[in-house]
Amino acid sequence: MLSINNLGVYYDDIQVIHNLSLRAEEGEIYALFGRNGAGKTTLVKSCVGLVPVRAGNITFNNRDITNMEPYKICSLGIGFTFQERCVFPTLSVKEHLALTETSAFSRRNLKEICDEVLDLFPEIEPHLNDKAATLSGGEAQMVKLAMAIVRRPKPKLLLVDEPATGLSPDNVHRLTNKLRELKGETTIIIVEQVIRAAIQIADSYAVIRDGAIIHQDRVSSIDKDEEMVQKYILG
Ligand SMILES: Nc1ncnc2c1ncn2[C@@H]1O[C@H](COP(=O)(O)OP(=O)(O)OP(=O)(O)O)[C@@H](O)[C@H]1O
Ligand SMILES: [Mg+2]
Repeated sequence: MLSINNLGVYYDDIQVIHNLSLRAEEGEIYALFGRNGAGKTTLVKSCVGLVPVRAGNITFNNRDITNMEPYKICSLGIGFTFQERCVFPTLSVKEHLALTETSAFSRRNLKEICDEVLDLFPEIEPHLNDKAATLSGGEAQMVKLAMAIVRRPKPKLLLVDEPATGLSPDNVHRLTNKLRELKGETTIIIVEQVIRAAIQIADSYAVIRDGAIIHQDRVSSIDKDEEMVQKYILG
């Protein structure tokens, strides 16, 4: 499905991803772990054309997507949520959700979309008509995630960068359940500091340090105790 091969990514002359290779198979969830500055965001942004790749290549279903424009990558069925606050300040929450209906053939109306989102994040309900500029960090996070998750056509691959940031434990729980539900139809790569939540749903994980993968394995081969995993993964 997604194949990252010998990737080299730079900001100006500084190399931040070094000869990195990673494969994601269809219908699986991958967790990417690593300390601040390890290169996780740079890696996922390079997969969606937001940071230029200088060495190596990335293929999606055997098609070379290296340095393709982000909108073309999106149209191939790849979704991505940013780590940063990423909502349009002057649009209401409902208007954001309306943007998720990208298929001319789909019959979903806004009410159906809102119902799906409110099942996931009920706290958004009182804010449906509010401009995004007025949302708290956690509410903006919910809108951003909801847009990627309820989008039609459904993404074949979804890259989510630190989705749990600003969310309550209840919301993290509902989000992980929702991602688990998507799995099968959607391959998911999740960058997360909340290791406990990520290993509940991931099939495999990789640890990035200084822009290189230092360890990868099936999640089933690690103990699910968070403290141990933190130590094991982050060293
Ligand atoms: N736009 C940029 N210009 C220059 N350097 C950058 C830029 N973005 C990130 N970096 C640097 O690249 C390296 C990798 O950063 P990146 O944001 O990919 O790490 P990360 O693993 O996502 O960290 P975090 O856990 O803090 O989100 C860091 O040294 C960072 O300072
Ligand atoms: Mg990051």
